Amino acid sequence: MAAIHTFARESVQTPERPGTTPKLMSVPMTAKTAIEVKDLELAFGGRTVIDRVSLSIPEGQFVSIVGPSGCGKTTMLNLLAGLVDAPHRGTLQLGGSAPRLGDDRIAYMLARDSLLPWRTTLQNACYGMQVRGVPSKARESRARMLLQRVGLAGFEDTYPKHLSHGMRQRCALARTFALESPFLLMDEPFGALDAQTKLQLQELVAELWQQERRTVVFITHDLGEAISISDRVIVMSARPGRIVADIPIDLPRPRNVRDLQGEPQFHKLYAHIWETLEHGWRHDDAH
Ligand SMILES: Nc1ncnc2c1ncn2[C@@H]1O[C@H](COP(=O)(O)OP(=O)(O)O)[C@@H](O)[C@H]1O
Ligand SMILES: [Mg+2]
Repeated sequence: MAAIHTFARESVQTPERPGTTPKLMSVPMTAKTAIEVKDLELAFGGRTVIDRVSLSIPEGQFVSIVGPSGCGKTTMLNLLAGLVDAPHRGTLQLGGSAPRLGDDRIAYMLARDSLLPWRTTLQNACYGMQVRGVPSKARESRARMLLQRVGLAGFEDTYPKHLSHGMRQRCALARTFALESPFLLMDEPFGALDAQTKLQLQELVAELWQQERRTVVFITHDLGEAISISDRVIVMSARPGRIVADIPIDLPRPRNVRDLQGEPQFHKLYAHIWETLEHGWRHDDAH
């Protein structure tokens, strides 16, 4: 397969820094392959979980993966993060090489906020950078900047037990984006949040991504979320997990997540993805 993929995207308005006038930034029409998965197969206890999955993601693309519970989404993400040591077939490369355990090219955000209860918000936001050896001054200033971006200014010295669930996820978001890794892997990060907080955090992720253009693989069971923030949605079937659809999301950026939900194109995409998901479930019935 060719290493260069066509990656058409419209011109977008991207503010360079908050407070400056947005300017028109033209996005390159080609991008290098960032993630390449070929014929991936994995079984646990003799039962196939990932079934011949192939996927190519260009640099800077925001990809969501949706699929029924238990279809292997988390396993896929763990494989991408180099966290699965179970034998598997096929190949999997990030930036041209296989991911390793503790790979600092990767930032991984889980569904649970996984904050350390004995650390304050600031210390939690610094944690990943600390593990990676970022000097203390640099990590503190980056963490403070990101905490401000996620709306936690003023809570730097608060412990997780005094934060709401939404605030804890904001802190985890700051901790994740604080890592200057080119690959962001997110596993249902907003799955347990209320609808309002979820929308706010989706907007925040879209905004942060818009500025940095890292390569993102985002797992969600929320189709609206997937459409709102992604360039592309991959639909997986129920066990064993296969890719049953690969749907480009050709909605202009930057996007206003709230307004999008009133757009006819959003509803069309929603209905289309829902249909492919249902097809994937029927596939499960047959096994
Ligand atoms: N370490 C493991 N050992 C054995 N089975 C596992 C392991 N991890 C996941 N599984 C199984 O693999 C399947 C896919 O799990 P998972 O990737 O967590 O699904 P999803 O994230 O799509 O809900 C499930 O049936 C789960 O029980
Ligand atoms: Mg999962």
